Amino acid sequence: MALQAESAHQGTSKPKVAVTRKIPAAGLDRITASCDAFVWPDPMPPPRDALLRAVAGCEGVVTLLTDAVNGEFFDAAGPQLKVVSNFAVGFNNIDVAEATRRGVRIGNTPNVLTDATADMAFALLIAAARRIVESRDYVLAGKWKTWEPEGHVGVDLWERTIGIVGMGRIGMAMARRCRGGWGMRILYHDRFANEQVERELGARRVEMDELLGESDFVSVHTDLNETTRGMFNSGAFAKMKRSAVFINTARGPLHVHADLHAALRDGTIFAAGLDVTDPEPISMSDPLLSLPNCVIAPHIASATVSSRNGMAEIAADNLLLGIQGRSLRCPVNFQA
Ligand code: DGY
Repeated sequence: MALQAESAHQGTSKPKVAVTRKIPAAGLDRITASCDAFVWPDPMPPPRDALLRAVAGCEGVVTLLTDAVNGEFFDAAGPQLKVVSNFAVGFNNIDVAEATRRGVRIGNTPNVLTDATADMAFALLIAAARRIVESRDYVLAGKWKTWEPEGHVGVDLWERTIGIVGMGRIGMAMARRCRGGWGMRILYHDRFANEQVERELGARRVEMDELLGESDFVSVHTDLNETTRGMFNSGAFAKMKRSAVFINTARGPLHVHADLHAALRDGTIFAAGLDVTDPEPISMSDPLLSLPNCVIAPHIASATVSSRNGMAEIAADNLLLGIQGRSLRCPVNFQA
């Protein structure tokens, strides 16, 4: 009932905003207290026509990574739109250039999910390397009959080499776990050198081919854009060790789905751990789901209490500052 009450514009003199999904109260309560807020009440995303109707006449919108924010969205919202506050650190769902052209501020939610995401990447790394999910399925299927000297053999982690693609905040947090906890050698590939990670963790910046060829684990932490889309394709997988484990907690389209399937099926690489797929959700008939060497989670890397509350707080701050025409707490554009 409370949700239904929240979900219609009240027609007050408060600024009109839309929130495209129910987000944690840590942010939502402040938004509904100070704005005439429409909150989409369903757990599933609004259909496109409903989204476009919901944003019409709004000064600010809180969006999720499942909402495409583009020219059509801005046209539907109208010229009074001041801010789009994305409830995510990634913003590949938003046409930022178009927003900037129209003078709409864009905000995101960095930092608060860095450690949670790195934890998830490492959890997937161990799960895939040590065949944990596959072994659990084996137990549940009643196949565990005895201790098997050559059964369920995985790959070692201690003092191996991790290749990190994208050495930003999350890549660095992943590097710290790999170096500090498991004594790994760190290779990384990034457009920019990260002196801190080189100094603190002895990481070495290398070309992509060297990273692929030398790493026991390859973990991708880069953003999705037209340069990075599909960067993990059959050519990349062919350059990796046959014992390698591929981890993607960033965005599904960074890897070519069919090529990853072929690489796992044919033994080109040993295993993969994915928190993201393309598309999301993955189809239940997708052949990747039948491969025992692929661990898949439903995009949950930021799903911890403190991360999601932190994201909601920043999303609310960005929205409320934006409708006042002020600089956002975490701006994507208009950063000056
Ligand atoms: C993000 O924030 O971009 C994640 O993918 C969801 O938390």
